[in-house]
Amino acid sequence: SRQWRGLIEEYRSRLPVDDHTPVVTLREGGTPLVPAQVVSELTRCEVHLKVEGANPTGSFKDRGMTMAISRAKQTGAKAVICASTGNTSASAAAYAVRAGMVCAVLVPQGKIALGKMGQALVHGAQILQVDGNFDDCLTLARQLADKYPVALVNSVNPDRIEGQKTAAFEVVDMLGDAPDIHVLPVGNAGNITAYWKGYREYADAAHPLGAPASRTPRMFGYQASGAAPIVRGEPVKDPSTLATAIRIGNPASWEQALAARDESGGLIDEVTDRQILAAYKLLASQEGVFVEPASAASVAGLIKAADQGLVEPGQRIVCTVTGNGLKDPDWAVAGAPRPVTVPVDADAAAHRLGLA
Ligand code: F0G
Repeated sequence: SRQWRGLIEEYRSRLPVDDHTPVVTLREGGTPLVPAQVVSELTRCEVHLKVEGANPTGSFKDRGMTMAISRAKQTGAKAVICASTGNTSASAAAYAVRAGMVCAVLVPQGKIALGKMGQALVHGAQILQVDGNFDDCLTLARQLADKYPVALVNSVNPDRIEGQKTAAFEVVDMLGDAPDIHVLPVGNAGNITAYWKGYREYADAAHPLGAPASRTPRMFGYQASGAAPIVRGEPVKDPSTLATAIRIGNPASWEQALAARDESGGLIDEVTDRQILAAYKLLASQEGVFVEPASAASVAGLIKAADQGLVEPGQRIVCTVTGNGLKDPDWAVAGAPRPVTVPVDADAAAHRLGLA
């Protein structure tokens, strides 16, 4: 038996790499597809969770980063830069270490989860907190990459999309075909773009490598209500949501997200912070899967769509849960009852646990 080699080696023939590409990897990808029993019952569908928090830095960004950093290294880049709501910066920082590169990250001041900041710090990234939101950070990162010798590794870099499309390959490889519906949270809209590309390539009968899938799924994307520019049809100047990972008012891949929606017969809708938190708690307390709030937007969206009668019973559905709950544990602790303190005494402990 052998371990998973990382997505570039596992899907080499379907990625833009050659024999000279220095593969920078932490063995990302190969993440679990977990049956969601309670969500399945709730929606009367067969629901699976693609648990991307199981990637090396705890989010799906590692799929894009192994490609983006490997390709940047191949072209001789010595430094990379990104704007981030937290996860991209954590991933870029880790892969830059592996590549021996300098990593600069721009994050919105006070709006990134502590765990993600800790990751960027411990991996030695140069962090600038910007007095603005994510959209301002991305504008700044693009300007710096234009003028200075530093490679941009946000999802506007096509290598990121190439890496992230492999998640769709894995779903098809596990299920034997594409699901009926695939549900994702949407922030900057890179990931929905990547999945749609992956599903299309895997179902393309004219592809030289053949077509493992017979069809493509409908793509359902969910934004947070306070940061839902695609739903509103115009940029949101001051986006707000507790799901800081998707607190984005002007997504870079807006057009591609609309194409994924329209070409797949899908939809892009919004979920409130309340719906996000409810799904977050349900996943943790009833499925045993701890995700960060933004990740729960996919499941919140599916539950909303099912309630609206938009999902036929019996459908096979995959929800991507994009990031690990440990990155942003504030919401797990907030509102939960405080653990009680007991003396070193079995009777007292048993009494408190309701055993005696
Ligand atoms: N879920 C999580 C946990 C994320 O970190 C992000 C994006 C998304 C969903 C949305 O994905 O942007 O491709 O539509 N995080 C970026 C970052 C913006 O900087 O880490 P998207």
